[in-house]
Formats: sequence, C-alpha cells, structure tokens
Amino acid sequence: MDRIRIVGGNALNGEIEISGAKNAALPLMISALLTDEPVSLLNVPRLADVKQLERILENHGVDIAVHGRRRGDREMGGQRITITAGDIVDTTAPYELVSKMRASFWVIGPLLAREGRARVSLPGGCAIGTRPVDFYLDGLRALGADIEIDGGYVVATAPAGRLKGGHVVLPKVSVGATHTLMMAASLAEGTTVIENAAREPEVTNLAECLVSMGAKIAGIGTDRMVIEGVERLHGTSHEVLPDRIETGTYAMATAMTGGDVLLRGARSELLQAALDSLGEVGVSISQEDDGLRVRRNGNGLTAIDVETQPFPGFPTDLQAQFMALMTRANGTSAIRETIFENRFMHVAELARFGADIHVDGQTATVRGVPELKGAQVMATDLRASVSLVIAGLAARGETVVNRIYHLDRGFERLEDKLSRCGAEIERVTG
Ligand code: UD1
Repeated sequence: MDRIRIVGGNALNGEIEISGAKNAALPLMISALLTDEPVSLLNVPRLADVKQLERILENHGVDIAVHGRRRGDREMGGQRITITAGDIVDTTAPYELVSKMRASFWVIGPLLAREGRARVSLPGGCAIGTRPVDFYLDGLRALGADIEIDGGYVVATAPAGRLKGGHVVLPKVSVGATHTLMMAASLAEGTTVIENAAREPEVTNLAECLVSMGAKIAGIGTDRMVIEGVERLHGTSHEVLPDRIETGTYAMATAMTGGDVLLRGARSELLQAALDSLGEVGVSISQEDDGLRVRRNGNGLTAIDVETQPFPGFPTDLQAQFMALMTRANGTSAIRETIFENRFMHVAELARFGADIHVDGQTATVRGVPELKGAQVMATDLRASVSLVIAGLAARGETVVNRIYHLDRGFERLEDKLSRCGAEIERVTG
C-alpha cells in the first residue's frame, strides 16, 4: 500500500495551482443523467472519486469521453469530460459501486426524475458519523415518489412516471439533499420550493449548470430555492469552480510551515470565513489577480476558537487541517464541530506527533506545543488525512502517513504540489 513520507521543517515558498473542486465536479457529472444530450465539464480534477463516479455512470449506460488528459510531469490543469446519457440502460446503482462513495447516492434524483424509477444502494463514504439519508427520502416523497427500502436498496418510483413539484423544508442544512432535490425538481411537473437549502458554492455551481441546461431555478445562492419543472433539459458546457477546501488546506499548510505561497486560481469569496480565521491567527492573505497569496514570515501563530457551520461559515472540511495548525499555536484553541457528530478521528493521530488535544463531546481543546515530532500515522478519512500531512510538514524528523488512498480520493498531485514549494515529501509505493 502507498504511503507518504515527509521530512518536516521546510518553509513553503512558490506557487500551487488550485484544482477544480471535487465536491462540485461530482454533482455536475451526475446532472448529466438528466438529459440525453452531451454535457461537457471543464476543469474536472483527476481524482479517485471522479474515476469511481465515471464507473457508476457507465453502469447506467452513459458514454464518457475524457479529453486533455496529459501524462507525466506536465499533467497540469483540469481535464474536460463529456458525458452523454443517450439511453439509461439500467436504473440500479449497485452496492459494490455506491458503497465506495457517498455522493454516488445522489444519482437517485436524476434517475427518478428522468426514468420514473431508481433502485440505489444505501451509501458508504467517509466514516465521519452516521450520515443518514432521511432528508433525501422525505424530500423525494414530497415530490410524489413512492419509496421502499428493500435488501439495503432504496427503491423509488414516481407514480404515473413523473415526479410532481412539492414543498420541502430540510430539517438541517444538507448539501447532498439540496443537490439531489434540485436535480429531481428540475424535471418534475410543477413548482418545487426547497427551504433551508444549502448555500455552499458547489450548490450554486450545480444550479447554474442546470439553468444552462434549461432548468428554471430562482433563489440560487439563497436558502430558499424555487424550481419550476420543465419537460426536458438539453446539453451544455460548464466549468467546475476552484476547490475551496484544497485552497484552505494549502493556506493552512503555508501558515503552519511559514513562507510565501501563491495559490493560483483560488478565490477568496469561496472561503472567506476560513481566511478571516487565518488572519486572526496571524497569517497574511491577499487576493491578487491570479490567485490568493498566503504569507507568514517570522511571527508566531495565535490560538483562536472556531466552530464549523454551513456556508458561509467555517467549513467542516477544513476543521481537521485547522486543528493541526492550532497544535503549534501560542495558547489554547476550542474547536467545535457542529455538522458531523464523529469527526475527530484525527485527534488520536495528531497526538502521535506530541499534540495536546482533549475532546469533550463536540469540542476539541487544543493546547499549543512548542514542537511536533515526526511519527508513523494512519489516514482515517479524506480531510483528516491531509491534517496529518500538515502536521508532518512542521514536525521535526520523519513522518510516514499510511493508508493514503483517502488522500487520493480528494487531493490531486498533493506530494507534487507541495514538493514544488520546497517541502520534503514523497510517495512511497508498495
Ligand atoms: C457534503 C460534502 C462533504 C461535507 C458536507 C458538509 C460532497 C461530496 N461532500 O457531504 O465534503 O463535509 O457536505 O459540508 O459534497 N444529514 C441527515 N440526513 C440526511 C442528510 C444529511 O441527518 O438525509 C446530516 C448529516 O449526517 C450531517 C449533516 O446533515 O450531520 C450535513 O450533511 P450533508 O450536508 O448532507 O453532507 P454531504 O452532502 O454528505
């Protein structure tokens, strides 16, 4: 199994190209199921989760063409993927495919809307809490679907073959339920209102793509979306927005090691809350024409408290990375996780570097220590694993991060991007 080996202590200096957002690319790829015409996506990142979703879509009979995939050292810039769902040959998304990635469950929305039926395995994905699907099922029921659970599968049918507009109030902000219901409502008969909708930039990216396919959506970017269903959608070409979680991760890595890095293509408005927190910690951040510049020269890190919140708040997907940063800050930081109930698995691994962290319920209290020491650690989930890389970059001596397939799901060419900025980091195969 591949591992990442890091020798800590080097400051980061240079440029890092920010990739297209995984969490936008996945729902955009799924939206291609809504039309029999080609949907071309630009700036799609090269990630294991994207490959996995290609397999899932192909299982439904979808044709996928990948352009601009270059090999070797020059493998830069996003790829263009054209997805054509001419005929949907199978409306079942099987356990073997769906269990590997939670987002694949979202195919239930477009399959049901276009074909009037879908049979989708209950999902898997990162083990960061129970992550039920009740909001999806209640929402689809509000759109007229009949739903049964049979042998680990959700079996959904639209009576008379077509969903009907309905009123959905999400009990809690859910990104995936908003994506799924928005796609389903786009082809339903009549008007759907989604209240307490997620406002994450990836939701807006999908909504704008759907509009360019002919969907009628009002309230994009707000927590109340009104979708007037249309009979059919057409093909389009749409760009995946830059990855705000990758941006925040490299900003925190630079904050941790010190140095001066331009995050090329990054956009501050996609992660303002996290950037504000970094500013309070003592990191200098400026938006330049071609990206975000992150600098920390000489001055120490100040401990601050953060609480994760739906967008535009501090993202849960940056909580682990921020915790790694706080292990080296001056003072004590309280980090409260409000989105997922079990998202502190990185704490035990960070302790292996000598970090001082105490968890009580949903709050982790981090007391900054003068030094971290390199260690053997284990990646537990996607964002947690990159927090171990951040710790390793600042730790004295050698760190080995095991089980890095989690990293490959969500970070494109991580070791390459960091080593170009002066980090001593390599992938060890076998
Ligand atoms: C998406 C992101 C993930 C991010 C999360 C929150 C993708 C591929 N994944 O995940 O990286 O951490 O948003 O920003 O975009 N919930 C229920 N019932 C449901 C659905 C959700 O109780 O039916 C709960 C979840 O357990 C969680 C909360 O709602 O506590 C938010 O989850 P949600 O926004 O749905 O996360 P995902 O869409 O799975």
